Amino acid sequence: MRPEWLREPADVNALVAHLWSTTAHKVDGVLEVGGVAVTDLVATHGSPAYVLDEADFRRRARAFRDAFAGADVYYAGKAFLCTTIARWINEEGLCLDVCTGGELAVAERADFPMERVGLHGNNKSLGELAKAIEIGVGRIIVDSFDEIDRLAALTRELGRTARVMLRVTAGVEAHTHEFIATAHEDQKFGFSISSGDAFEAARRVTGTDGLELLGLHSHIGSQIFDTAGFEVATRRVLALHARISDEIGVALPQLDLGGGFGIAYTTQDDPSDPAQLAIELTKIVTEECRSREIPVPHLSIEPGRAIVGPAMCTVYEVGTVKEVALDGGHSRAYVSVDGGMSDNIRTALYGADYSATVASRVTGAEARLSRVVGKHCESGDIVVRDEFLPVDIQVGDLLAVPGTGAYCRSMASNYNHVLRPPVISVNDGEMSVVLRRETLDDLLATDVAMGDLES
Ligand code: LLP
Repeated sequence: MRPEWLREPADVNALVAHLWSTTAHKVDGVLEVGGVAVTDLVATHGSPAYVLDEADFRRRARAFRDAFAGADVYYAGKAFLCTTIARWINEEGLCLDVCTGGELAVAERADFPMERVGLHGNNKSLGELAKAIEIGVGRIIVDSFDEIDRLAALTRELGRTARVMLRVTAGVEAHTHEFIATAHEDQKFGFSISSGDAFEAARRVTGTDGLELLGLHSHIGSQIFDTAGFEVATRRVLALHARISDEIGVALPQLDLGGGFGIAYTTQDDPSDPAQLAIELTKIVTEECRSREIPVPHLSIEPGRAIVGPAMCTVYEVGTVKEVALDGGHSRAYVSVDGGMSDNIRTALYGADYSATVASRVTGAEARLSRVVGKHCESGDIVVRDEFLPVDIQVGDLLAVPGTGAYCRSMASNYNHVLRPPVISVNDGEMSVVLRRETLDDLLATDVAMGDLES
């Protein structure tokens, strides 16, 4: 009944330290993060809430910056972005990757230096591209021939030059624990290397007056634990890089290997630290460049999840507990919390695994295999598929789920007209609201017919 990897804990109160942000610990069963007890946090700001450990976030950002000291680290804002995060990223000396006009607007609002911003997207609008050129975005990662035409026309019209990279697909699609090399790249991103499109794109960009080609960009996937996929992709990308030098006569100064570095959601995950990643990726690039006798380009990477993922947890309040009979005489405890797939869609969407702990008290009760579910009208509304929780878990207990910093708030929705929770940052015993809780007025603000009903 329980998944292979899930072990019954010796003490159901204990935190599995490496799944939590660095300052998280329990005092008499109460979870404290950044010196703040989550019971106090919920008393002040309500439940559910995302709790952001500022020191942990900054520490992870710095760890990447220091490990990749000779390279540029672009924080991938799609994982989680707001003006506070953009400010912290700037203060820690990282660059910022955005992939829409909306994310760019956050960077602008935070006064993020635009020369350190990269703009991604497979279908950037004319408006987004014009804006990026006007405000001096440092690099635009070009994804299609249509976009090359659009940028050529725009730079001509605006009398400006755009610094661009080409997103190329190396035929490597990497997933957790494994990577598969596909013969043809059957997905929407980038220019295929194997089909010749990537070389043709480089020929067109280098032949366009308003465009300056900085280099090639490769992103092979997300939540990757093994550098084998990066190695195959890097070899293929550098082969193209060398061909561009030989046949077009342009030595590209830069190379971006994308993001995708995995984190530990549960005890089954065993991620590398940034220092180890830096050693391995740098070795792959330098060895390949040496064997091809080409200069080593300036490297950049784009981690999102590995910086913000472990820095946040979500705190919920338990609303109902049900024992449901299963086949074979087994049963399962369904613990319903006051959020769900609207604040964490990853379990439903990707079958992601999470863990959970009771965060408001100590218990002497036995552990029982449980499932944490949300309040949405859908049976797939699962937050934590399998976890051992105490048999005495009860209405009003707080439950905390670690590792929710990446792609939870950023993919949150108002499904069932549920209000999106706030993000509260905690540090040195202080809490501050980074994103406030949505209100019913926020929800109804876009409902333009409401005025008609009132009049
Ligand atoms: N760079 C590019 C070009 C990307 O497309 C991505 C992620 C990243 C960097 C950052 O990847 P990270 O280091 O955060 O893994 N919603 C999914 C993940 C989608 C990732 C999309 N691209 C999830 O919740 O797992």
